[in-house]
Amino acid sequence: MKVGIFISGTGTNMVAVCRNFLDRKLDGVEEISFVLSDKRSAPGLEKAEAMGIKTIVLLKRKEQTREDYEAELLKAIEPYDVGLLVLAGFMKVLGNRFLEGFCGRIINIHPSLLPSFKGVNAQSQAFEYGVKVSGCTVHFVDSTLDGGPIILQQPVFRKNDDTDDTFRARILEQEHILLSKAVSIVCKGDYKICGRYVVLNQEEL
Ligand code: GRF
Repeated sequence: MKVGIFISGTGTNMVAVCRNFLDRKLDGVEEISFVLSDKRSAPGLEKAEAMGIKTIVLLKRKEQTREDYEAELLKAIEPYDVGLLVLAGFMKVLGNRFLEGFCGRIINIHPSLLPSFKGVNAQSQAFEYGVKVSGCTVHFVDSTLDGGPIILQQPVFRKNDDTDDTFRARILEQEHILLSKAVSIVCKGDYKICGRYVVLNQEEL
């Protein structure tokens, strides 16, 4: 399956997926067709280019409505004919117009064990709450915020001497592993969805 990746920032998750693909460790992925950013300054863009991946920048103009921006997004990626879109630190919430065009074919990585700590800065939300365990989640994207069916989750335990930064860094390390696994599972079609539950053909223990 062909895959497109959306980013807005550093792009370390995107790099992990592309690296695994280039090292032939991503079964089911035929091609990483593009990395698209909604920010020209996203450091991930250069990293994608350095790996030889096609990059696209599509900014939302101030006067543009979300609908119009999303119509432009769909048009920009249409020629690539990707089967899966991966949101890897993409900071825009996608609306129905876009989701309809990619129904059930968009996944997102979120740095908490959903449904806890949705939204931005989930790692700090969890840290400040005083959790013993947080982690990361890869889920299908639907019209709810961080609310679609969960594909994979990985717990990360907080240590007594963790700071917000060290906790965040250990979660990020796991995100890189989890996102690549999820991309491969979805591309291979190694799952079925029963209601909200994503049944994996090979149970991840
Ligand atoms: C990650 O923590 C991801 O879970 C969240 O945004 C961050 C992106 O980091 N959605 P990076 O750009 O992949 O380094």
